[in-house]
Amino acid sequence: MFGPRKSLDDIRSHEASQSLAKTLSWPHLIALGVGAIVGTGIYTLTGVGAERAGPAVILAFAIAGMVCACAALAYTELATMIPAAGSAYTFSYVALGETIAWIVGWSLILEYSLACSTVAVGWSGYLVGWIQSAGVTLPQALLSGPHDGGIVNLPAVLVSLAVMGMLVAGTRESATLNIILVIIKLLALGAFIAFALPAFDPDNLQPFMPYGFGSVESGGEKRGVMAAAAIVFFAFYGFDAVATSAEEAKNPKRDLTIGIIGSMLVCTFIYMGVAITAVGALPFQQLANSAEPLALVLRALDQPVAAHLVALAAIIALPSVILVMMYGQSRIFFVMARDGLLPKRLATVSPRTGAPTLITILTGLSIAAVAGIFRLDEIAELANAGTLLAFIAVGVCLMVLRRTAPQIERLFRCPAPYVVGTAAVLGCVYLLISLPSSTIVRFVIWNIAGLAIYFAYGRWRSAAQRATVAA
Ligand code: ALA
Repeated sequence: MFGPRKSLDDIRSHEASQSLAKTLSWPHLIALGVGAIVGTGIYTLTGVGAERAGPAVILAFAIAGMVCACAALAYTELATMIPAAGSAYTFSYVALGETIAWIVGWSLILEYSLACSTVAVGWSGYLVGWIQSAGVTLPQALLSGPHDGGIVNLPAVLVSLAVMGMLVAGTRESATLNIILVIIKLLALGAFIAFALPAFDPDNLQPFMPYGFGSVESGGEKRGVMAAAAIVFFAFYGFDAVATSAEEAKNPKRDLTIGIIGSMLVCTFIYMGVAITAVGALPFQQLANSAEPLALVLRALDQPVAAHLVALAAIIALPSVILVMMYGQSRIFFVMARDGLLPKRLATVSPRTGAPTLITILTGLSIAAVAGIFRLDEIAELANAGTLLAFIAVGVCLMVLRRTAPQIERLFRCPAPYVVGTAAVLGCVYLLISLPSSTIVRFVIWNIAGLAIYFAYGRWRSAAQRATVAA
């Protein structure tokens, strides 16, 4: 009913010309994970979360983090069992069949591409603020897209294209540079906590939950802890980019286990610290909807130098998120093309760098176009919807494969898999329905378009379908 499934043997037997080079080990993978996770979510969306939930944005971070931790556990088991590029798409192909795999792959396009575009737009905001604070006036028409009163968001386009160039130059160079950027980003968050925590005032946490718990829509906006969790969820995902690079890990079992769990723990710990510090230092109304809430807190506390440095770190380091997500996106397209669901020519690997050059360039250009035109919030919410669907699929795959393929070796075994899998699925469904209805409608339209493409093209050219017919 859901199309053919892939066997694990098929997954391991790709043509040599279509295999990716094994160049990454676990320090690269933790950096890759943290590089993808820490970004616009904590640097910018903390303010939006505070606007939607009040001080209970702390709770929103905790809820989103717990749901992601369940998904991360499921991912790790599946990634060490199926060490091949493609993450949730490939897992779904094995466990649930081709049609579901296509829907998941199509949703991953939203996750990876729109997250890149979101971060590019957020980065542009920091850069523009930084330049203008030095007294330089810039032409407004080139600083935001037509949906935001300008012509094109040029800085967002340029940063997307620059990152694309790095990836085309080769995986290894990009991963090493990524480590340096991750260190800068973490130092800045550490500095934020160190400078703002002494101003912690328990009165700022009252009332803790001014808009209640459940996500309630009024006037096109949703508020409440779950509405905030559905937005700040953006801050947590990205760890699956590590699973996406499984085929390029030197020792997939060890490196992926450490890479995914390690990056998730590091980030959850830091986010809780940053969120408590931010809402403890200032009344939440002052944080609401700020384009640069962390710098705002520091400035309000009369720490202009620290504010300046934190903003500078964001400008220098946020591109690492684009780097990792764009890397993940090009690999998803690569695997879908290799499977015949997209044109095969896209899956050609460069003999010099071991990277899929053509697909990386096409991905980069699309990301740059979206970043140049659309508004940050429009893009981020749709990215969340795509990611949540992929995580739901991962929770289901974990449980299905425990039943259908118990004999396959798993270096990492998820504890209590049915409890964790069910929690991941239910948690993601709850977050998905907590998104604004306009986002849910756009997401449904995206998937209808995707299925139309699948039934018009991929279903007839898929390598797995042909193998089934030939057998
Ligand atoms: N988690 C990533 C970020 O917050 C996507 O930017």
